[in-house]
Amino acid sequence: MAAQGCPLSWMSLRLPALLLLLLLLLLAPGSPGASGARWSGEGTTPHLQSIFLGRCTEYLALLNPQLRDKNCTDIWEAFQAVLAKDPCSVLPSDYNLFINLSRHSIPRDKSLFWENNQFLVDSYSENTGRFLPLGDVLYGRTGDLLSWCRQENASGLDYQSCPTSEDCEDNAVDSFWKRASMQYAQDSSGVIHVMLNGSEPTGAYPVKGFFADFEIPYLQKDKITRIEIWIMHEIGGPNLESCGEGSVKILEDRLKGMGFQYSCTNDYLPVKLLMCVDHSTHPDCALTS
Ligand SMILES: *[C@@H]1O[C@H](CO)[C@@H](O)[C@H](O)[C@H]1NC(C)=O
Ligand SMILES: *[C@@H]1O[C@H](CO)[C@@H](O)[C@H](O)[C@H]1NC(C)=O
Ligand SMILES: *[C@@H]1O[C@H](CO)[C@@H](O)[C@H](O)[C@H]1NC(C)=O
Ligand SMILES: *[C@@H]1O[C@H](CO)[C@@H](O)[C@H](O)[C@H]1NC(C)=O
Repeated sequence: MAAQGCPLSWMSLRLPALLLLLLLLLLAPGSPGASGARWSGEGTTPHLQSIFLGRCTEYLALLNPQLRDKNCTDIWEAFQAVLAKDPCSVLPSDYNLFINLSRHSIPRDKSLFWENNQFLVDSYSENTGRFLPLGDVLYGRTGDLLSWCRQENASGLDYQSCPTSEDCEDNAVDSFWKRASMQYAQDSSGVIHVMLNGSEPTGAYPVKGFFADFEIPYLQKDKITRIEIWIMHEIGGPNLESCGEGSVKILEDRLKGMGFQYSCTNDYLPVKLLMCVDHSTHPDCALTS
């Protein structure tokens, strides 16, 4: 503090500063206010439309040419209809037309559900080559890792921030993933795979989450032969939960109660070998002869 030797106006100098500090402290928690951002989530991804159309076009032209009758312009138009809505008043059903236009079948035995594992799932699924997690289905691919919302009281997009579930439940991005998750679960058949993270401190199976609330309830029992759960631990740990423990037990009991056949495997070897690519000298990755 530089005001050490200021005899006269201690109060007059300090009071405004104190008020300013108080105001900053009031605005600071959770922080959006202090930086001028309205919401706690990332703003609309720059070049949203180009990314969306590029991903859609690439998917139809290169990844799944059988879907050539789909029209990315129409799919974008259906998607962007939600960008006209108030950022906290977007419902999952607002994406119905978008899903109707972009939906396609998921090959039997190729569904891969997950929580807290996105990048491992992405690399293991190998861009639809091995599995088709939601992010490798056309409608999931178009929104993967993107953010979008309209400004609160204006018609343009908000590039500063977008609401998350902390701000309001009916935000554009969560409602998209709810609607997409429901469709993905409904269209899944055969053996269902589930990759969970046994090193996640909040539990491998989030009892409230997209998988628990928007996928499990929509699985079509008559089309599903069994469910395989893989609990992956980070190389070197911590092993916080394994099959039969904690939240994994809750999941197993739930699936059992619903009448599904299921199995649970700790550190499913093909996925562990993939994780070991980045930890080849770690003792947990030693190949025993
Ligand atoms: C997609 O649909 C639009 C009309 O919505 C049409 O103008 C365009 O030619 C179509 N594109 C393709 C590739 O069929
Ligand atoms: C889209 O909706 C139409 C009309 O409701 C329906 O006939 C069609 O089967 C739907 N398409 C898909 C892929 O769900
Ligand atoms: C599993 O969870 C831990 C703890 O949150 C995290 O550090 C790790 O990156 C997660 N693993 C994967 C593959 O995402
Ligand atoms: C939007 O309008 C509402 C109602 O007039 C107001 O309470 C809110 O502060 C406005 N938000 C912004 C970001 O201007």
